[in-house]
Amino acid sequence: MRRRIVAGNWKMNTTYAEAMELVDGLKASLTEEVVGETGVIITPPALYLSDVVGALVDNEYIAVAAQNVHEKDSGAYTGEISAPMLASMDLDAVIIGHSERRQYFGETNESCKVKIEQSLNNELAAIYCIGETLEERKSGAFMDIILKQCAEGLEGFIAEDMDNIILAYEPVWAIGTGEVATPEQAQEVHAGIRAWLTERFDAETAENVTVLYGGSCKPGNAAELFAQPDIDGGLIGGASLKAEDFTAIIAARTNA
Ligand code: PGA
Repeated sequence: MRRRIVAGNWKMNTTYAEAMELVDGLKASLTEEVVGETGVIITPPALYLSDVVGALVDNEYIAVAAQNVHEKDSGAYTGEISAPMLASMDLDAVIIGHSERRQYFGETNESCKVKIEQSLNNELAAIYCIGETLEERKSGAFMDIILKQCAEGLEGFIAEDMDNIILAYEPVWAIGTGEVATPEQAQEVHAGIRAWLTERFDAETAENVTVLYGGSCKPGNAAELFAQPDIDGGLIGGASLKAEDFTAIIAARTNA
């Protein structure tokens, strides 16, 4: 069975006090009724991960992920955080290849592949982000670009690995811009990704992989996106910073 998931990407936002307040707000608002079968993941800044995990030890609904991971286990890589380190802090998952990391920090499909390997080797689920820029969308070749990101980032993985890999389709032109992909535009890409997964792995694997949509997903448009057959949930940026909005998006997923 495909998992329905709503993940919040906090990016480089919140002070420590704001982060802990947001966690408290989510603990209060994410009731059994709201969450249902939806998997909920939050992704605070690395600095706060330990305290956030600690604040959620008794919470059964919220999993915690990191926003990035390094390719190596340990060594002279000043400022970096490795998968064994994240695993040792009881984290559940890590976001890999977010378009901001591709754009500003030189991440490539190849580096993403290594980071996914590192995550899986350390029992962390990988949330692998893919998506086209505005120019690539306008060129008409966007599907080829997205499938290349899939092919290169997932090179060498086998069907069983896909149990621990979540895909997140995030059109770069929709991230933080307020310009959301239409449900039809998103569904078209999600269906294309699933068709590719069928060819690359098999029909059962394709059916079971969770594919999230991300890019200006808000309480007001979440329901129509989640109503699409191949959109299994969302990777939420701005709207995940307000407990009320994130909760409303989770409720939209649960009730879709
Ligand atoms: P946004 O960000 O919801 O603020 O557009 C989504 C993301 O970058 O994951």
